[in-house]
Amino acid sequence: MESIISLCKRRGFIFQGSEIYGGLAGTWDYGPLGVALKNNIKKLWWKRFVDDRDDMYGVDAAILMNQKTWEASGHVGGFADPLVECSKCKHRFRADQLLSADPKIAVKIGAEKCPDCGGKLGETKQFNMMFKTYVGAGEDTASVSYLRPETAQGMFVNFKNIVDSFHPKLPFGLAQIGKAFRNEIAPRDFLFRAREFEQMEIEYFIHPPKDAKDSEWKKTFDDFVGEMKAFMADVGLDAKKVHELEVPDGERAHYSKRTIDFEFDWPFGRKELYGLAYRTDFDLKQHSDFSKVDLSYFDEDGKEQFIPHCIEPSFGLDRTVLAVLCDAYREDDMGEEKRAFLKLTPSVAPYKVAVFPLLKNKPELVKKAKEVFEMIKKEFAVKGVSGVVFDDNGNIGKRYRRQDEIGTPYCVTIDFDTLEKNAGVTVRDRDTGKQERVGEEELIDFLQNKL
Ligand code: GAP
Repeated sequence: MESIISLCKRRGFIFQGSEIYGGLAGTWDYGPLGVALKNNIKKLWWKRFVDDRDDMYGVDAAILMNQKTWEASGHVGGFADPLVECSKCKHRFRADQLLSADPKIAVKIGAEKCPDCGGKLGETKQFNMMFKTYVGAGEDTASVSYLRPETAQGMFVNFKNIVDSFHPKLPFGLAQIGKAFRNEIAPRDFLFRAREFEQMEIEYFIHPPKDAKDSEWKKTFDDFVGEMKAFMADVGLDAKKVHELEVPDGERAHYSKRTIDFEFDWPFGRKELYGLAYRTDFDLKQHSDFSKVDLSYFDEDGKEQFIPHCIEPSFGLDRTVLAVLCDAYREDDMGEEKRAFLKLTPSVAPYKVAVFPLLKNKPELVKKAKEVFEMIKKEFAVKGVSGVVFDDNGNIGKRYRRQDEIGTPYCVTIDFDTLEKNAGVTVRDRDTGKQERVGEEELIDFLQNKL
């Protein structure tokens, strides 16, 4: 993790939030390459789950919502973690994450002493993780609102708007990408547990089961298992590092009848990456009750009125970024040197192609390299592909290392043979370091095939 965090900072992917002021725990700022990586992931998600389907409706709901939303959803009453405070140093911990003092006992049994100073720990209290704020000038109970702790509720409260404006037939889903905020007691492991993060969520509405034996919902659930795995392949995650965990009774969220957690083998252990939950009609019913607005659906075919049930695939965007980085990070020996590189799948790589002149002090090489760079950029733009970069900083070896480190799959170099022998350019492969000569006319097709 240290190597990955340091690469992210050094190469402009991700920085500590508010760094010049000593940081703000649980917040992270994305730099240019991090934004590009994150946007590529978002695009792949939106394409797979919204654009390529006829049954999905994209929304972008407000982060601040009427406080009743969070009463109805159960977050005001129950979105809490167990908190314990040391009576001596006043440090606070998540009670369920304190390990035994004996390192051989690897189970969470809750420590009795403060791990920082050995002081006596106080009683465990429930700590609500929502960030509370006030809307408008007043600071009374009526003006209370919260930074949303999940994007999901923005979709449930818009269910009726979508039904009234688009008249979709069941089954159909609402999809959203956006920020969520949780005042985590112990933010940790870089982007894994942050206080401000992004989610990509779907609320997929289906016909309620006809009776207790009706298991039609399981088909939709299983379809989403497949789609979630396909998305993980889209972003290049190694399927061997992803594991499905059937969350047992008693450990699921209050609203869920079935949950599968997709766990990932992180450098710090196997932990949750995504979740898939069968939320039944819990949320629409709650919002109907609290808002007094009828959120039932009229099925024209069956001429029946009912509250649909809901299946929710939920993806953490920052966790996806972190999983992609952890999975792609490699160290090897190339030539005489050790190198670190990111074996990113081209669809998520911030840059797809870097173009260099062999030497930066030879104007004829620079001129030609700029021409080739502009040509690739233009041709790629026609296909909707961005991420072509020109680089003439430092010597060629350093440029290759730099591009390897940020995961650029191909480097195109213009050398003297390009100019003097009309011998095309060299294309270097990030993973093998091998170079091959490619004629200028074939270059676009060659790169597009590779990518
Ligand atoms: N709407 C359901 C929901 O929010 P969740 O399991 O609490 O379920 C969904 O969160 C996903 O959001 C998680 O699988 C994870 O990817 C991401 N996530 C949750 N808390 C996070 C945090 N503190 N930092 C980063 N990502 C987080």
